[in-house]
Amino acid sequence: MYKRTLITSALPYANGPVHIGHLAGVYVPADIYARYLRLKGEEVMFIGGSDEHGVPITIKARNEGVTPQDIVDRYHKIIKDSFEELGISFDIYGRTTSKTHHKTASDFFRTLYDKGEFIEKTSEQLYDEEAGEFLADRYVVGTCPHCGKDGAYGDQCEACGTSLSPSDLINPKSKLSGSTPVLKETSHWYLPLDKWEPKLREWILENHKEWRPNVYGQCKSWLDLGLQPRAVSRDLKWGIPVPVEGAEGKVLYVWFDAPIGYISNTIDATPDWEKWWKDPESRMIHFIGKDNIVFHCIVFPSMLMAHGGYNLPDNVPANEFLNLEDDKISTSRNWAVWLHEYLRELPGKQDVLRYVLTANAPETKDNNFTWKDFQARNNNELVAILGNFINRATVLIHKYYGGMIPAAGDLSESDKSMMEEVRESIRSLSNNLDNFKFREGLKDAMNVARIGNKYLADNEPWKLIKTDPVRTATILNLSIQICANLAVIFEPFMPFMAARLAEQLRLKELKWDMAGSFDLVADGIEIGSPELLFEKIDDSVVEFQINKLEDAKKKNILDEWKPAQVKETVEFPTFEKMDIRVGKVLECERIPKADKLLKFKIDDGMGGRTIVSGIAKFYNPEELVGKEVCFIANFAPRKLKGVESQGMILSAEDADGRLVVISPSGPVKPGSSVG
Ligand code: MF3
Ligand code: ZN
Repeated sequence: MYKRTLITSALPYANGPVHIGHLAGVYVPADIYARYLRLKGEEVMFIGGSDEHGVPITIKARNEGVTPQDIVDRYHKIIKDSFEELGISFDIYGRTTSKTHHKTASDFFRTLYDKGEFIEKTSEQLYDEEAGEFLADRYVVGTCPHCGKDGAYGDQCEACGTSLSPSDLINPKSKLSGSTPVLKETSHWYLPLDKWEPKLREWILENHKEWRPNVYGQCKSWLDLGLQPRAVSRDLKWGIPVPVEGAEGKVLYVWFDAPIGYISNTIDATPDWEKWWKDPESRMIHFIGKDNIVFHCIVFPSMLMAHGGYNLPDNVPANEFLNLEDDKISTSRNWAVWLHEYLRELPGKQDVLRYVLTANAPETKDNNFTWKDFQARNNNELVAILGNFINRATVLIHKYYGGMIPAAGDLSESDKSMMEEVRESIRSLSNNLDNFKFREGLKDAMNVARIGNKYLADNEPWKLIKTDPVRTATILNLSIQICANLAVIFEPFMPFMAARLAEQLRLKELKWDMAGSFDLVADGIEIGSPELLFEKIDDSVVEFQINKLEDAKKKNILDEWKPAQVKETVEFPTFEKMDIRVGKVLECERIPKADKLLKFKIDDGMGGRTIVSGIAKFYNPEELVGKEVCFIANFAPRKLKGVESQGMILSAEDADGRLVVISPSGPVKPGSSVG
């Protein structure tokens, strides 16, 4: 058994705001767990903070012409404020540019250095001679050797997704100066992970078979591949300087300093920080996304073992990824629901987001968020089941008893079996939360509301009040007790609603061991007036959000568009064979049963001709009448849907596939040649 729990949540990079993928993967489950343990009266420390180093931050700063510190100041604030508004109950939300963190991370490195835990190795790295700087992988761009597209980064080609190393790139260029980088020797410190491999094997593979299969499996495959020494320093300007003489221009690798952020944030939270990290009766749980597994299960534990004196994590309940409308969430493509925007656009709906993200939590496989599902879960579950039950129970208490809780009489067999069902759901809920199965746990909690609805529907107190007031009092008393149970068990999931309900029911304090009791609201107590805890979400709200995403998608298509390759060279005589002319549109109409085709009557200065063109999707026929267009006059005639087309109207194809008719920029006599 343990005495206290240190809960950490991955420190988000402060190079952008957080989105629903971060929330579903890490922060919502971590918060549910922290709140659950607190309700159980356990000692908890819940750590969060911004990860403020790393190359993407420097790239963003460079693109915007500001300093990295400006970037992290901006996003740290947005992230911190939006977490708070969502009710993520960190005991501290720190940052890795803090003084405490710089000192803690430096000292940590220095301890390992002094103990001889590092090996120093020289290697050749790309260097920008003009800028006088070594280049991080992201600072080298070139042609991808796999797909041939330009603009691939030194670590990855975003066009085809292949992982690369900078030396794979064809024609590499530095993003700093545009010059061709050269290889230059540099030396770095490496943590020999191989040294810790036997201990890691025993610790994870033997002693933590209870970890989630995805986490255990990833660790096993890393260990089976064999661990290598890993560099823990970089030649960069932004970061924590390597605290060793002669290490000018070198900083700690961001993945070395960031997890130490959990320690420094604990130090900032309490002078008593050591007990959380070192007392064997403390346990540590890391909440992370699946892309962080190796760092939290292999690298950071090796660092902790190399240092000595620290506990290793007890569990690492990593989640898979959340997709958005069936597409991968992407910051650069703006394919995301940003938390700070959600809070602004759907004010007061924090609990709804928490609910939907938990109901769709990507615990065992990638999962999908859609706005339609968001609306359906709100309207059909939160409003129709949970809100409806609480509302019916409290309205009836006000209607029949002026808001005073009536005493219950003798309990019937069906009352007792209802109570047993509630207790069974709560046992299952506790068990699921204990095992990090938040999604299943939420279903158990919701089941209690379903039981309540069924209890009211079966007993019909609104009918019974006329014939059996004693029985009615019992039913409504028990219904209110169910409501009180709901306030307790939903607190970890939806703290705002739970607080309002608790206040309405005059519950002073919520504690987990209240759950399952049916004497939580005493007889004669006057409860607050009924209120709607959830409201229906209209189609218009969801449509607004879907439109926003569609706009992002359109913008991406335009941004990613590149002109097609130029065709093979032709000489003038070949070009001259094409007879291009200007014509004036006399008539234009749709062709029945052909949704793409328009039929034109063109004044070509030679008696007129008919041309069929496949642009019906992009124009109303009327808007083209009177326009001057360019057409190929000696194009072999062909029949389209029974109409003979005597030429071809020229149009440009835009990035999104839209066809735009080409017109001369001033008036020209029909029949004039174009060339
Ligand atoms: N910033 C990293 C990410 O978003 C997570 C860092 S977790 C820590 O993937 F342990 F290093 F802090
Ligand atoms: Zn590629």
